[in-house]
Amino acid sequence: MPTLYDTVPYPTLPSPTTHPDTLATLGRLFGLAVAPLERCRVLEVGCGDGGNLIPMAHDLPGSAFVGIDLAERPIAHGRDRAAALGLRNLDLRALDLRQMPADAGAFDYIIAHGVYAWVPADVQEALLALIRRHLAPHGLALVSYALYPGAHLFRMLREMMLFHIRGIEDPRHRAAQARALLHLLHDAQTEDTAYAHVIAEKLHRFSTVPDEYLTHDILNEHYAPCTFLDFVEHARAHDLRYLADADYFSMHPGGLPGAVRTHLQALEETPLLLEQYLDFMRGRSFRRSLLCHAEAAVQTPHPAAMDALYFAAPVETPSADAGTPAAVATLRGLRGHSIQTGHALTQAVARHLGDQWPRRVPFGELLDVARPHHDDAGTSADALLRVLLLGLYRDGFLQAHTYAPPLTLTPGDRPEASRVARHAAEASAVVPNLHHQPVTLGEDDRDLLPYLDGTRDRAALEAATGFTPDEQDALLARLARQALLLA
Ligand SMILES: C[S@@+](CC[C@H](N)C(=O)[O-])C[C@H]1O[C@@H](n2cnc3c(N)ncnc32)[C@H](O)[C@@H]1O
Repeated sequence: MPTLYDTVPYPTLPSPTTHPDTLATLGRLFGLAVAPLERCRVLEVGCGDGGNLIPMAHDLPGSAFVGIDLAERPIAHGRDRAAALGLRNLDLRALDLRQMPADAGAFDYIIAHGVYAWVPADVQEALLALIRRHLAPHGLALVSYALYPGAHLFRMLREMMLFHIRGIEDPRHRAAQARALLHLLHDAQTEDTAYAHVIAEKLHRFSTVPDEYLTHDILNEHYAPCTFLDFVEHARAHDLRYLADADYFSMHPGGLPGAVRTHLQALEETPLLLEQYLDFMRGRSFRRSLLCHAEAAVQTPHPAAMDALYFAAPVETPSADAGTPAAVATLRGLRGHSIQTGHALTQAVARHLGDQWPRRVPFGELLDVARPHHDDAGTSADALLRVLLLGLYRDGFLQAHTYAPPLTLTPGDRPEASRVARHAAEASAVVPNLHHQPVTLGEDDRDLLPYLDGTRDRAALEAATGFTPDEQDALLARLARQALLLA
């Protein structure tokens, strides 16, 4: 029977935090012997039209990917896309997760993004049971869900919207009327109240969200947010253990005022309770939680894990500080997180990451950068670097990865863009880059990208697109910085 996802498609985009790279990185950090990305089995439950799995399967041809979804139309659409790309390592199946065959085998990584909170209770149970049954012994699963306390505010609006659209059947009309109510609510606020702020913030948020998302994420028949500890307990009832949040930074009080952090220090010995309070402090409304088997031997994150990882950060330095490494410099990293440091080694490492961004830099290369600045007789350069990188990762200043795609920052004579991006650009301005991020192309980028197949030099590209070599250089530099060009 067709579901609402058949009649109102939910276009799935590549989601970098659900990529097995995120799971493998955190798995290694916590001491699990996770499978290498180049040879692993991945299952996505509720994969929609495969928009998340297709770029993964394309970029990791030595690994096997399976996607299941109840809705047949999106699966058929995804299969067409996969066939057009000639993907042999992706199996998309129209299947109720409750009917997952027992002999489907074990998966190193299982993704269930945007499913758990939007299905009835028996499907929630079946999802966790499926994960327990099909997760490899050292495997990791990512489950995302709507979260209290932030979801209380969505729930408040949802209830008013559902009341307003009661009796309306047509999904487009329902979404339009739900939006209309939100505008009316906004216009009705004449005083500076907490209620007015919530309405204004949600109106702003929904203004960038297409109707499809409003229909499925907010107006869905099922919407069951929970607290973090309730989710952890539910997983435990299925012999699954909460390992970490996909966003490692969020597990720590970084970014909160000093007085609040001091208060929360009392919870350091009870990390689950600490995370629950952090949700309260931040008013969080969504989580991506990583689960492993209850029996898995988990360790406390250790700096030694850094040796096998790659690092990336869009580090910026105010121009006045450039070239004066000994002075105290302010360095801005990921999501605007800043550090102030006079430590020459730290500055050199951070600046190198900024120069290389968005390339993922291996530990060994950072060690080469760090060594000339190492003047601490008591600790070796590599030990110092490990501790530094783990701290910067925990503080949200940089990304850590287990995998570095072969991208280039300097386009050659015959530039080549990822095939999956070229293919996507034929139908949409939003394409996956080599880091599994959705990138919105400008009009000129989109005109050039399909011709970047590695066979055309600048003259051939000019003949095909009309862009002069200078114009091509400017466009190629931008595409390279967006992680779209292959080495
Ligand atoms: C909100 S969408 C999320 C899609 C995608 N994972 C994403 O995040 O973009 C939820 C998906 O779960 C699927 N789904 C719901 N119940 C299911 C079930 N019992 N078995 C398999 N898939 C199911 C829906 O068809 C839909 O594609």
